[in-house]
Amino acid sequence: MDGSVVSGAQGTHWVEVARLEDIPRLGSRVVATATGDIALFRTSEDIVFALDDHCPHKGGPLSQGIVHGQAVTCPLHNWVIDLNSGEAQAPDVGCVKRTPVQVQEGRVLLALRA
Ligand code: FES
Repeated sequence: MDGSVVSGAQGTHWVEVARLEDIPRLGSRVVATATGDIALFRTSEDIVFALDDHCPHKGGPLSQGIVHGQAVTCPLHNWVIDLNSGEAQAPDVGCVKRTPVQVQEGRVLLALRA
């Protein structure tokens, strides 16, 4: 990871991990962190979400799924994961860990543990 630390709060630091233009619209980009791969998803409205790149079903790579609205469909067995909550859409049950993310002047920042 080549980001820079820009601020900190509650044991975490906001770390620049990408630029918005690095993430394709309705696509994703994977960021390797000390706690595992995090997938950045960008919606058609340029909202960015950060979730573990690990489907709650059988660990499929969500970063290779289809982004639609504010959800992603896992490429392996088509579970639909809400990007806001990380929850699988019913009737499936499971949750993906989310990481706080913000976009500032085109820079994508993640709240990562120091
Ligand atoms: S691993 Fe994602 S739906 Fe099965």
